[in-house]
Amino acid sequence: MTAQRYHALKVRAVTEETHDAKSVVFEVPPELAETFKYRSGQFLTLRLPVLGRHLPRCYSMSSAPTLDAHLRVTVKRVKDGRGSNWVCDRVRPGDTLEVMAPAGVFTPASLQGEFLLCAGGSGITPVFSILRSALAHGQGRICLLYANRDERSVIFRDELNALAAAHPARLQIIHWLDSVQGVPSVAQLAELARPWAQAQAFICGPGLFMDAMVSALDKAGMAGEHVHVERFVSLPDEEDVAAINAAAPAPAATVERARVEIELDGEVHTLEVAGTETLLDAALKAGINAPHSCQAGMCASCMCQVVEGEVHLRHNEVLDAKDLAKRWTLSCQALPTTERVRVRFPG
Ligand code: FES
Repeated sequence: MTAQRYHALKVRAVTEETHDAKSVVFEVPPELAETFKYRSGQFLTLRLPVLGRHLPRCYSMSSAPTLDAHLRVTVKRVKDGRGSNWVCDRVRPGDTLEVMAPAGVFTPASLQGEFLLCAGGSGITPVFSILRSALAHGQGRICLLYANRDERSVIFRDELNALAAAHPARLQIIHWLDSVQGVPSVAQLAELARPWAQAQAFICGPGLFMDAMVSALDKAGMAGEHVHVERFVSLPDEEDVAAINAAAPAPAATVERARVEIELDGEVHTLEVAGTETLLDAALKAGINAPHSCQAGMCASCMCQVVEGEVHLRHNEVLDAKDLAKRWTLSCQALPTTERVRVRFPG
C-alpha cells in the first residue's frame, strides 16, 4: 500500500558525481510546488521498493532553494547499503519515485553572519546547499572544511572550485584528504576551526568525523548553541516498524489522557490523547497530516518542540542532549505525561 504522505515524483535526470556517488534530480509538478518548498539543509525521504520490501531512506538535498529550478538529492554508495546502492544502480531518468515533503531542522536560522561548514564525504550534500544559499543571500565569510578519504571521493569538486574562485573574499575551502594527511585528529581540527569560533557551525558526515568535529569545536571555544549536527541512521524497512515499536519499552502511563494541542502549518489542533498513545499516532488518527517517516524514532522527520507540559520519549536515536534541552521531541515516540501538552512543528 502506498502511504498517502508520499508523492509520486518523476526523475528528471541522474548525474554521476564521482565513481561512487550520483545525484537524482526530481520534477515537481505545479500542484505540489508548495508541498515541496524547502530550506537549505533539509532532506527528502524516498520510499524505495527493494526486493519486495519498502525502505524509507532520507537523503539531503544538494540543490539550493531559489538557485536551482529542481530538487536534487545526492546519494553515495555505502558498502552493503541496500537503499543507496539501489538508487545508484537502478534509478533512471523518467522513473517515478515516492517522495515525502522536505523535512529536517539542519538549516540556518539566518543566512547572514559567518559560517564554518564541516563536511565528511557525502556529508557535503546539505552543506553544499547551505553554502550556496549563504553565498547568494548572505554577506558573511564562510569556511568549508571538507574531509575525504582521497581525491576521487571529493563530490562537487568543480563546483566548489568555481565558487571559491568567484568569492575569494568570502569563501575559504580547506580540503582534508586522509590519503595525504591521515585521518584528522581532534587537535588538528580544533586548530583549523579556532579562527571561526564565533561562526555558526554546520557538521555532516560519518559518525566518527562528526564526533571529532564536535569535540574540536568545543576545544576551539565555540559556544554549543552555534554547533549544528546532522545525524542520519539507516531506517528500518516499513515491514519491520510494528515489531520494533512493540519491542520498545512501554512505561506505565503517567496520565490516563491528555489534552494535546498541536501547532502545525499555522493551525492549532486540539485532541485527546491516551497516556499510552504517541502524539503522532493520535494526530494521524485525527486526520492531521503531521510529518513523519520511519515511525521508529530514527529519522527526526517527526520532530516537534514541546512548548507546554511534558512527554516521555520512548525511543530516540537522533536527538542529542542539546536538542532535548531545547525541548525537541519525536512525535512518533512521545507519550504525554502531563494532562496538558502543547507541541509545535517547525514551519
Ligand atoms: S518518524 Fe522518524 S523519528 Fe519519528
